[in-house]
Order: sequence, then C-alpha cells, then structure tokens
Amino acid sequence: MSVRTILVTCALPYANGSIHLGHMVEHIQADIWVRFQKMRGHNITFVCADDAHGTAIMLAAEKLGISPEEQIERIKAEHMADFAGFSIAFDNYHSTHSAENKALAELIYTRLKANGHISERTIVQAFDPVKNIFLADRYIKGSCPKCKTPDQYGDNCEACAATYAPMELINPVSVYSGATPTAKESKHLFFTLPAFSEFLRDWTRAGHLAPEVANKLAEWIEGGLQEWDISRDAPYFGFEIPGEVGKYFYVWLDAPIGYMASHQNYCQQHNMDFDSYWQPTSTAELYHFIGKDIINFHGLFWPAMLHSAEFRTPTQVFCHGFLTVDGKKMSKSRGTFVNARTYLEHLNPEYLRYYFASKLTAGVEDIDLNLEDFVNRVNADVVGKVVNIASRCANFIHKFNAGQLNGTPIDLPLWERVQATSKPIAQLYEAREFGKAMREIMALADAANEFIAANAPWSLAKQPGQEEQVVAICSLGINLFAALMTYLKPVLPAMAHEAEAFLGVTLQWQTPPQYLHGQTIKAFKPLMQRVEAQQVQAMIEASKPAEPAALTPAPPAATGW
Ligand code: MSP
Ligand code: ZN
Repeated sequence: MSVRTILVTCALPYANGSIHLGHMVEHIQADIWVRFQKMRGHNITFVCADDAHGTAIMLAAEKLGISPEEQIERIKAEHMADFAGFSIAFDNYHSTHSAENKALAELIYTRLKANGHISERTIVQAFDPVKNIFLADRYIKGSCPKCKTPDQYGDNCEACAATYAPMELINPVSVYSGATPTAKESKHLFFTLPAFSEFLRDWTRAGHLAPEVANKLAEWIEGGLQEWDISRDAPYFGFEIPGEVGKYFYVWLDAPIGYMASHQNYCQQHNMDFDSYWQPTSTAELYHFIGKDIINFHGLFWPAMLHSAEFRTPTQVFCHGFLTVDGKKMSKSRGTFVNARTYLEHLNPEYLRYYFASKLTAGVEDIDLNLEDFVNRVNADVVGKVVNIASRCANFIHKFNAGQLNGTPIDLPLWERVQATSKPIAQLYEAREFGKAMREIMALADAANEFIAANAPWSLAKQPGQEEQVVAICSLGINLFAALMTYLKPVLPAMAHEAEAFLGVTLQWQTPPQYLHGQTIKAFKPLMQRVEAQQVQAMIEASKPAEPAALTPAPPAATGW
C-alpha cells in the first residue's frame, strides 16, 4: 500500500454562535473519515478554524461591551471544547483573524489583482444613518411590497415568497437601530468570476464534486456568473484591503483562505512543508467537508481564486445535507435546536457518532435525527449486538482459563468471513458510505451472536469436562468482538479505547484483524450504557427557550436546495 498525504478541512464555524448538532453532522462525518485514514496508515492532517470576521460578530461584541477580539477568543475556546467533547481530533484549530490568514489573504488578493481579476465600481446600498453602517439585505425589515405581510426581511417574503430589493419594503427599518435606511453610494471591489466560466465548467465536471453537486453548479454557470463583491466598507471587523482606505475584505473572501492559514500555522509548529501541499503540482490530496448551503463558495469562488492565485485546487469537495430532527427543521421553540454543549450535558457523544454514522451516505440528502429511532438504534446495535458479545464471553475466559484467550477459531468460516469483510468495509469508509459500513458490521455482529447462542457456552459450562470447549467458544467470541471494535474504531473512539484496555491490545487496521491467541484479557466492564429515552427528553426540554426570541437578523439565505 502506498502512503497517501492528505489534508482535510471542515467548514469554519462562524464565531457568532454556538456549535449545534447540525454542525456536528459535518464534524463527525469528517472525523470518522480522518480516523479511518489514520488507522489505515495514511499521512493525514485535519484542520479547522473559527470564521471570525464580519458585521454580525462586530455587533455581537458591541452588545456585550467587549472588543471583537475578546469575543472571538471566548467563542473559539467554547467551540474547541465542544468539538473535543465529541472527540473531533483536529490537528489544528485556528482562527481567520490570524497573522497567517492576513498574509495569505493579502497575497491572494494581490495576485488576483495583478492578473486582472479585480474590478471596481460604485454601487448604491441601504445605509443605517443612526449606526453609520451599510445594511445587508437581511438586516432590514418591513412589510412585503406585494402581499403586505409585516416583519419581512429585505430580500424575500416568507408569506408569499416574493423577492425584491430591500428598499422596496413598505416602511423599511434597520434591524440594528430601528432607523429608516437611506440609499448611499460607495465604491466596491469585485472578483471577476465570469472570467472563469470556462475553467469552472471543466473543473466542476472533473471528478472534484458529486454529480448532483456539479449539476447544481452547472445551473449557476449556465445561467451566467456574476462578478462577486469582495469588499465591505468600514466599520467592519476584518482585514483592510491593501491599497484601499476604509475597505475590508468581505468575510467570505478570507474564510476559505482560513483553511490554508490553519494548515500553515500547523506546518510551522511541526516543521512541515506547507508549500508542497498548496503548489499547483502538489501530489497531496485536499478535501473539504461542507454543507450544501455553501457549495457556491467551494465549487465556484474558491477554485477560481486558487486557480488565479496559482495555487492547487481541492481534490474533492465533499458535500453533505442538512440535519432535521424528527423530520423537521431544527427549531428553538420545539427544543430541537440542540447545542453541542447541551447534548454533552445529557448524553454520551458516542451515541450520536454512531447514530450519524448509521445514517450518513456520500450524498447530499438531509439526514434525520429521529429521537425515538436514535434510542432504539444505539441500544439495539451498539449495546445489544456488539457489547453483548464481549459480555457473554468474558467471564468464562476468566473462570476457566485465568483470563487467557485460547485455541484457534473453532468456527473457521465465521472467523474468515469477519476477516474478509475488512476489505468491503474499508471501501465503504473510503467512499463515505458510513451507513452501509455500519450495516455490514452489524450483520457480522448478528452472525457472532448467532454463533454464541447456538453454542450456548452458559449451558456447556455446567457440564463437567467441557471447560476447554467453553474457552474455545468464548475465545472466538472475544476475537469477533475485537474485530468488530476494530471496524468501529473510527466511529466509536472512546469505546474502542476502553475495549483496547479490556483486551490488552491496540486495535489496528492495516491488514485484516489477526486472531488473538494467548492474550490475557481484563475483567469485563460494560463498555457502553443503554440510552434512556428520558435523557433525550431532558435534553430537548433544556433546549427550549426561556423567553421568546427578540428581533434578530435572518439566517443567511439558503441556496434553494
Ligand atoms: N463560516 C461559514 C463557512 C466558511 S468555510 C470557509 C459557515 N459557517 S456555519 O457555522 O454557518 O456552518 C458551518 C458548517 O456547518 C457548514 O458546512 C454548514 O453547512 C454546516 N451546517 C450548519 N448547520 C447545519 C445543519 N443544520 N445541518 C448540517 N450541516 C449544517 O457556513
Ligand atoms: Zn409577501
């Protein structure tokens, strides 16, 4: 096997809010993939960062009476603790508000400009005359010009789906100050995306994206790409644009550059060659895990920027769907908008890792956290099938053989089947078909339990002279458990760690699992408790708001999927 050099990223969470279970779909998915590649002996680096810039963060800090720098530090510490709570094994977690990112953003911008890919023109925008700040569409509210429904955001009406310019709203007001916005002119800088239409038509069809994602991007490409506004006027929390006064990079310009910055920061600490990953001829693989709402940034702007700036483009952009809870969008009032921290206060993170794994595919369809199914699935599969194997076998090994595993597999076809499934399971992990991988593993767990039930070591143990046979049966049982835990280790790292302590081995997966013979195991402790429905209920109750939500800006518009 040749060792691959791989760099993996997750989308950089905004520094203006907490990590929630929607984010965790992506981070758990990427972490499983990374742990799998690591176990297979590849040279893989996993980086992320907080996306720290933009108006929302600036205003959130102002409200708290602290500096934006202080605010993003606090949030970063919180985000890192949340991810650690779910065993997300980043090699580095950085910030887009960093020296590396500033230098890289300036470098890339300078190259885009030198290549003629930056244009400028004056635009008219809504302006809040009280706060002296330009207003993005979703920071303006008013009545819909078409159906007159009050309290609609500046780009579209939730009641009649009309789209309009914010100044067309009846009685528009600034979400910040309540003032009536005025129209104001300002010079903006644009990235000339249309110059990359040909490049992107090819790039999006060259195996970097799932076909369904490429099809979605093709709609935009064929509909005619627009120049992309990459500047924002002061006051703005971000990096000032070189050669301009009072103009800042739009947060989405330096956000993906944050992937590079986090990686560079890591390389500097570990004496690694950053350039060898990012030069156009690099043989390192680069993968971005993202949600479907941000494919335009990763499938159009980002590859075009990298291409113009003479860097390599991503090997693949892995795009996942959105999390729903009980079939519906996460909702604060229903208590289904669950923060990562709230989850951790009530439930074992490995439950969610397993549940998401059992549902994840390589596709962009949404994934549903059905709370009842969650309880049943985790209890039936992890506790009922996998842990059960060890709990039925371990005591007999201690009772009759001083804890030592013995013999060769007495059901050789079964052991060989479990070994041989190593390959298809690995292929499913590689292809991010985790749901299918979990089904393969659970089919093996069923076969293992059938073997134990058919041989009933607990009855044999009562018959004199059968001790050796009982030890042989249970030794195979423990070996089957060890093999299954090896296959599950990317998904259940903490449980695998306990299984390793119990077995006295490190579960490795460069070759099919080898039969443990003569190994002494520790006393069996239950490796995972059952999930109780009332813990889930308590988490939902704790996620319900104490008071109704205040007037806040709308979430960023979805891309229509
Ligand atoms: N800051 C940008 C990303 C910049 S990447 C250069 C951003 N941040 S985010 O916090 O809104 O989202 C981070 C990631 O979480 C995105 O990939 C997004 O798709 C994903 N998710 C956010 N909510 C989600 C769900 N409800 N379900 C699944 N994924 C979700 O976008
Ligand atoms: Zn309307």
